[in-house]
Amino acid sequence: METQMLRAAMDQLRRKGYLQECNKEVDPKFELGAVLKYYKNEVPILFNKVKGSKVPVVGALFGERDIYYEMLGITHEERIFRIIDAIANPKPTKLLSKGPIMENIITRNIDLQRMFPIPTFHEEDSSSYITAGLVVLKDPETGKSHVSVRRLQINKGNEISILVASPLATKQFSEMEKQNKPLEVAIVLGYDYSLLLASQISSETYGVDKYEVDSALRGEPIELVKCHSIDVEVPAFSEIVLEGIMPPNKREIEGPFGELMGYYGAVGPHPIVEVKTVMHRNNPIFQTAFPCREEHLSNGLIREVELYTSVKSLVDVKDVNVTVAGGCRFHAFVSINKRSDGDGKSAILGALASSKDVKHVVIVDNDVDIYDPSDIEWAIATRMQASQDLVIIPGALGSGLEPSHTLRGVTDKVGIDATRPLGDAARRFERAIIPGYEDIDIKKYLPGFKLK
Ligand SMILES: Cc1cc2nc3c(=O)[nH]c(=O)nc-3n(C[C@H](O)[C@H](O)[C@H](O)COP(=O)(O)O)c2cc1C
Repeated sequence: METQMLRAAMDQLRRKGYLQECNKEVDPKFELGAVLKYYKNEVPILFNKVKGSKVPVVGALFGERDIYYEMLGITHEERIFRIIDAIANPKPTKLLSKGPIMENIITRNIDLQRMFPIPTFHEEDSSSYITAGLVVLKDPETGKSHVSVRRLQINKGNEISILVASPLATKQFSEMEKQNKPLEVAIVLGYDYSLLLASQISSETYGVDKYEVDSALRGEPIELVKCHSIDVEVPAFSEIVLEGIMPPNKREIEGPFGELMGYYGAVGPHPIVEVKTVMHRNNPIFQTAFPCREEHLSNGLIREVELYTSVKSLVDVKDVNVTVAGGCRFHAFVSINKRSDGDGKSAILGALASSKDVKHVVIVDNDVDIYDPSDIEWAIATRMQASQDLVIIPGALGSGLEPSHTLRGVTDKVGIDATRPLGDAARRFERAIIPGYEDIDIKKYLPGFKLK
């Protein structure tokens, strides 16, 4: 029985009742994405009939936090420590001589739009986009694999434009360009929860082989095979692999494209990939991701590790939440066990410094549920005074992924300290309690009545 990658994950989702199947024909242009978006990208859906193609499409696998934990076999409480452990103790991979991904190897007449039902999502998008592609590069010096999701615009035939905002990948490509040599690259579709999470670790910060981090996370070596035409390894049980090169000194216009925050991003010249070989399993499944905030949950989980460790070095942290509505990067809620005056402000410093992307942070006490927006609002309403508890850092470097930053090129960062004072004043902030509330069996009082 397969244990790794998309098919194994889909079997598990099916058994748990999480995977929905759509048997109505959908158009990959707008309609398929519209259905994913309607369910907030939190309901995994397999589209069995996609207009103009025999290949089914699966999407919205990774947008729901509890499903993500369950599929990784971890709890919310242990997530941070399990991820830290996998980064600190990467485990070996297993290289197989062959795997199902090699069932079909195509080297001629590659026309990606004809071969696969590649969706178009928004009205002004420049083309159809592969939005879930895992881009694999190999560091020629260390042999380490860099794996990360990049959006890929289909230009024509076998040509794709690639948006790379990563310092390491950009450096690797520009070094090859200086030597006028192409960079080999594989694009993988049909992966699972563990590999996506491992892919979201920053190569620059940790310098790890992400396949090895994946092996540590999944608790068994990830099974890889060598690509057909390039010196890069890919998961043996993935669905589709596009092997190609990024030719030096070649750029094509990329965008517009409706991005994670719901706006169209900048249009500009970007490197391209020429696909030389396509490998795919028999009856392949095309994996997609509607470009929106939920789809970046895996990225947010890694950011929570960074937020937690940064704040933990200053104060006693209870939990952190890098919110989905804030694009899994701009907004953070942090609960702390306040021990000294000033802990709230120190936590603000730690949180805002944890990443250039964290723009607004709210610090609360350990009695506030940071996954309940009403509880956060309650704490701000009752425990914060702006003249004392609002910290503004004007003109810091922010993220180009939101337009108010791109307007000025800098971002104002804001911290709200919504923690209560210590000492005698703390009594004024104790919550009113109903004795026995937790023990009431509510079904006995209004049988059959359900709150909407
Ligand atoms: C669904 C999804 C789409 C993403 N799209 C892009 C993208 O188009 N370009 C990019 O540079 N990063 C994108 N990212 C973020 C990178 O995959 C992520 O930052 C990764 O960890 C970078 O790894 P690196 O440090 O090895 O470059 C995306 C992430 C997700 C989850």
